Amino acid sequence: MLIVAEGVSKVYEDGVVALKDVTVEFKPGRINCLLGENGAGKSTLAKIVAGVLEPTRGVIKINGREVHFKSPRDALRMGIGIVYQYPSLFEDLTVVENVMVFSHILGKLKGIAKWSSLEKEARRFEEFVRAMGFRIDVYRKVYSLPANIKQIVEILRLLYAQMNTLILDEATSMLTPLETEKIYETVCRLRDEGRNVIWITHKPQEVRQICDRVVVLRRGRIVYTAEGAPSTAEEMDKIISYMFGAEEAEKFKQSILMSTRQVAEARGLQQAPEVLVIKNLRVRGDYGDLKVKDLNLVIWKGEIVGLAGIAGHGQRELVEAIVGLRKVETGEMHLAGVDVTKSPAQERSKAGLVYIPAERLKKAVAIELSILLNLAAHWLNVPSNTIKFTKKVAGMPLVDYEGLKAHAVEVLGKFNVSYPGITAPIKSLSGGNIQKLVLAKVLERDNVILVVAEEPTAGLDFKTTSEVRLLLRELSKRGISILLVSSDIYELLELSDRLLVMYDGRIVKEYRDTASIDMLELSKYMLGLGARSGS
Ligand SMILES: Nc1ncnc2c1ncn2[C@@H]1O[C@H](COP(=O)(O)OP(=O)(O)OP(=O)(O)O)[C@@H](O)[C@H]1O
Ligand SMILES: [Mg+2]
Repeated sequence: MLIVAEGVSKVYEDGVVALKDVTVEFKPGRINCLLGENGAGKSTLAKIVAGVLEPTRGVIKINGREVHFKSPRDALRMGIGIVYQYPSLFEDLTVVENVMVFSHILGKLKGIAKWSSLEKEARRFEEFVRAMGFRIDVYRKVYSLPANIKQIVEILRLLYAQMNTLILDEATSMLTPLETEKIYETVCRLRDEGRNVIWITHKPQEVRQICDRVVVLRRGRIVYTAEGAPSTAEEMDKIISYMFGAEEAEKFKQSILMSTRQVAEARGLQQAPEVLVIKNLRVRGDYGDLKVKDLNLVIWKGEIVGLAGIAGHGQRELVEAIVGLRKVETGEMHLAGVDVTKSPAQERSKAGLVYIPAERLKKAVAIELSILLNLAAHWLNVPSNTIKFTKKVAGMPLVDYEGLKAHAVEVLGKFNVSYPGITAPIKSLSGGNIQKLVLAKVLERDNVILVVAEEPTAGLDFKTTSEVRLLLRELSKRGISILLVSSDIYELLELSDRLLVMYDGRIVKEYRDTASIDMLELSKYMLGLGARSGS
């Protein structure tokens, strides 16, 4: 079906104008790529089409007829489904229960769902998942699944429900290249069947590979539309200029050039002091199964160590063990010479370990609280800061609110975070700005020695991605070590001084020279097909 937005504007409660008089067509039988920098209004437009938000002005027309959705249910029943930018599954329910909730909303299940129908649904969904080329235990609770599998469930649930129009808001951000390919294939097939796909992405290769039509939003307005995928570097540059404005785009292209140039720099950091030493580490997963198997790892000062691997091979458990969020079964862990194997997360954080989690909204911010409170809660926990932001009033130590606020404003400025006001809730920021805020929060401390960054650029626009990568490199030059866990192999190659490949709970390969890695060999190690070297 043909979806048209006509003169759509959206003003949020706090006065933020997210969309200004947007008129655009999303044609059926096409993958319509909706592009724009962080905060451009993409998710807002997507949510209006999906009935999640009502436009302040303007209308949505489907096949020429005006529709006025009062809720996502109205849109779903017309065959418009959305995968949100952020996980929306019920974490305490199993995969199949989540699928059933969806069918219920669609009006396909009448009355109270019975156990027998649950089993039937489970089998059908399982079959469907297999036919799509995935393997998921549908009886597992969603919270116990890795981020990529959650995202796959969200997408497959929508495909399973046979929606006419699919809106995918950065829906492949957590997927491995192989999983992403499978999703592309399926979505292209649905497109060929004549369905309407609205695809929001920040991945340049995705734009080149699957888009049939480009729609660029900038600061709430449609600034460019074109048929077909950009096939040349010039066309891509043109799109980037529309996304960021010509001047910004120029700077940003230069930063890309800069970043590739630095890769070749062999820094030989293995002589530096050891910041993190892990010996014979064994860590169990959520189900008691051994996920990290006698793993050894050393990170030297100022080094960026990339950790490659297909999600689910123990990376998450390893990271959680390092930052102190998961118990270690056996083995040792030393942070700057101190045994932290049994230390709580807070203690490690005070010792200078910083964690940038993949699941930002759940683990890195308190979404309902203000920007200032989020920053304050973190900063006041660092010993040196506590002194800095405390003033004595009549002999009593009190938080220096004004000082803290001034510092927050300064830091947010430094990290280029765009936000409505320092006391606005975190949830009013766009996805990319939340990530920049998380980085600002954890990095703006004076005692950082090790940063554990999990998917640090997922969901960020091209420009912010390159800013974050430059920042990580900047940190490493200041002598801060970084453990970079990423499903973006190009990111790993671009940043890592040393690249490790994790498979089945072990480090199966170490590349000390990341400038000349054979991608085929690397993929083989990721898939467990390479010969084992080291442990
Ligand atoms: N619930 C909200 N309340 C107030 N302002 C909001 C809310 N959601 C989004 N905004 C603001 O509306 C503007 C557009 O946000 P939107 O989330 O649509 O951007 P986006 O293009 O999806 O960005 P990103 O690529 O970072 O996800 C931003 O300025 C954002 O801060
Ligand atoms: Mg968005």
